[in-house]
Amino acid sequence: MQRILIDTDPGVDDAFAILLAMRSPELQIEAITTVCGNVPVAQATQNLLTTLGVLDLDEFPVIAEGEAEPLVKPLVLATHVHGDDGLGNTNQLQNTDNSPLYPPANTSIVSASGVDLILEMVTRYPDELTIIALGPLTNIATAIRKDAKKMQRVQKIVLMGGAFETYGNVTTTAEFNIFVDPHAAHEVFQFDVPIHIVPLDATHQVILTGERLRAEIDKREGKVSQFLRDATQACMEFYREEVGFWGFHIHDALPIGTLTRPDYFESVRAHVQVETEGTLTSGMTVADLRPERQHPNPNAYVCIKVAVEVFLDYFFDRLQ
Ligand code: BDR
Ligand code: CA
Repeated sequence: MQRILIDTDPGVDDAFAILLAMRSPELQIEAITTVCGNVPVAQATQNLLTTLGVLDLDEFPVIAEGEAEPLVKPLVLATHVHGDDGLGNTNQLQNTDNSPLYPPANTSIVSASGVDLILEMVTRYPDELTIIALGPLTNIATAIRKDAKKMQRVQKIVLMGGAFETYGNVTTTAEFNIFVDPHAAHEVFQFDVPIHIVPLDATHQVILTGERLRAEIDKREGKVSQFLRDATQACMEFYREEVGFWGFHIHDALPIGTLTRPDYFESVRAHVQVETEGTLTSGMTVADLRPERQHPNPNAYVCIKVAVEVFLDYFFDRLQ
C-alpha cells in the first residue's frame, strides 16, 4: 500500500482522479490539499468536498486549503473548460425538495494551510509519502521554500503537467498546470526528489468519447455514475466546440493509473526545464526526449505512452 497526498484544483478531471484514487485499494490516501488553478482555491475546496460527497465514505482523508495565488503571475482560471463552478455546474443541481443533489462530504477542513499539511504529512511519513500533484505546483514549491530539508523526505512526486512533443492546451507551447505557475514548476523540477511527469503527450492519447462515457454510465446505477454524467456535460460541449470531438481528456486520472497500473505506462528519463520568462513560451516545458540525446543529468521520468484501452477498462471498472 502506497501512502499518498493528493494536491488538486478540482476541475472535472481532478474529480475523476480523486474518485479513482479513493477507489484504489493499492493507495492509502492520507491527505488532500487544494490549490488555485481551474477555479479559485475556495471553490476548489468546495469542489473537493462535493466530489468526496459522491462516495459513501465513513472515513475521510485529512483536507486543507492551499495557496490562493501563483508565486509570481496573476491567477488564470479554466472555468470555460470545467464550467463556472469548475465541476460542470453540478453544485447548482437540486433535488425536488431544493436540497443539493450533490451535497458536500460531511467532513471538516483542518485549520492548517495546505502547505503546512504537506509538511506535516512528510514529517509523519518520511521517505514513504508520494505526492500526486494534479494542479499548478504552487503548494509544492511553497512547501519546498518553507522547509526544503523536510521536503527532501518525500518519496516521489507524480504530476500531471507539461507538453513536450505536442502542442500546449493554453498556448501553443504551454500546458495549463505549468502555464498557471511556471515559477513553481521551475522550482519543483530543480528540487532533488524523484519526479514523474504525465504530460499532454500521454493524456491526449486517452480520448474518452461521449459515446463511450454514456455507454459505460448506462451499464451502472448509483451516485458515482450519475455524477460522472452530470459533471461532464459542460466540458464535453467545450470539447465539441473547441477541441473537435464530443468527449474529453481525463488528464488527471492518468497519474493515479501510473501508480496502480504501472505496466500500462511507458516513461523515459529526461532533463526537464520550464520557461518562466518567454513572451510566447511562458510555461513551456523543455526536454530533449530523443534516446540518442539523453542528458547526463536527468531530473524526471516523462510518460510518453499509455495502453489506452486497458487503462479505460480499468478506469470504468473501478468507478462502478
Ligand atoms: C490540466 O489542466 C486542468 O484544467 C486539468 O484539471 C488538468 O490538471 C490539463 O492540462
Ligand atoms: Ca487539475
